[in-house]
Amino acid sequence: MSAIDGARRLDRRDLPEMERHLLALEPADRRARFGSAFSDAAILAYARGLNPARGVLVGAVDEASGRILGLAEAQPAEAPGWVEVAVSVQAAHRRRGLGRGLVGAVLAAAFERGAEAAEFLFASGNRPIAGLVRALGARIDVTLDRAEIRRPALTRRQAA
Ligand SMILES: CC(C)(COP(=O)(O)OP(=O)(O)OC[C@H]1O[C@@H](n2cnc3c(N)ncnc32)[C@H](O)[C@@H]1OP(=O)(O)O)[C@@H](O)C(=O)NCCC(=O)NCCS
Repeated sequence: MSAIDGARRLDRRDLPEMERHLLALEPADRRARFGSAFSDAAILAYARGLNPARGVLVGAVDEASGRILGLAEAQPAEAPGWVEVAVSVQAAHRRRGLGRGLVGAVLAAAFERGAEAAEFLFASGNRPIAGLVRALGARIDVTLDRAEIRRPALTRRQAA
């Protein structure tokens, strides 16, 4: 079985588990994921604002418990045609390819829906996400706090 077995698009019914996943993140992971030290209240507000019809949400779901072990989001960015991608994996399940698989899946879905490019924003010292996006072929800015991946040319031709 591959590490990404159980990854699937998430919908409204999954919102309570998405909330639980984000609340379970430790303070350092909250800073890494959200760019600041989100309180429980801030995470609840964020989770309750998630709209599966607006952004693409992909989760690695443990079938036995129903728990979300990892969550990737592609949300519409300010620039037309761009999405902003963010990802989190429960600490006990890292370094098994979950994050990479989730980001790959959320990018594929976003490009399929018409996005032209994806950006990732992160702290310049966040080696895990920098390594992950580099492994996916991203171009990382010299400031080391942003990366981007363009929609592959093949997908663009197929969609045309
Ligand atoms: C970033 C994060 C999602 C990575 O999840 P993961 O499931 O451990 O990632 P993967 O196992 O798919 O790793 C893929 C690649 O990323 C890189 N990577 C992952 N963790 C790393 C680490 N701790 N140090 C250096 N490189 C790392 C490696 O290149 C790795 O490939 P390898 O294991 O073959 O060497 C996880 O560390 C996390 O949830 N961090 C907190 C939230 C966060 O920082 N999110 C990103 C900002 S949006």
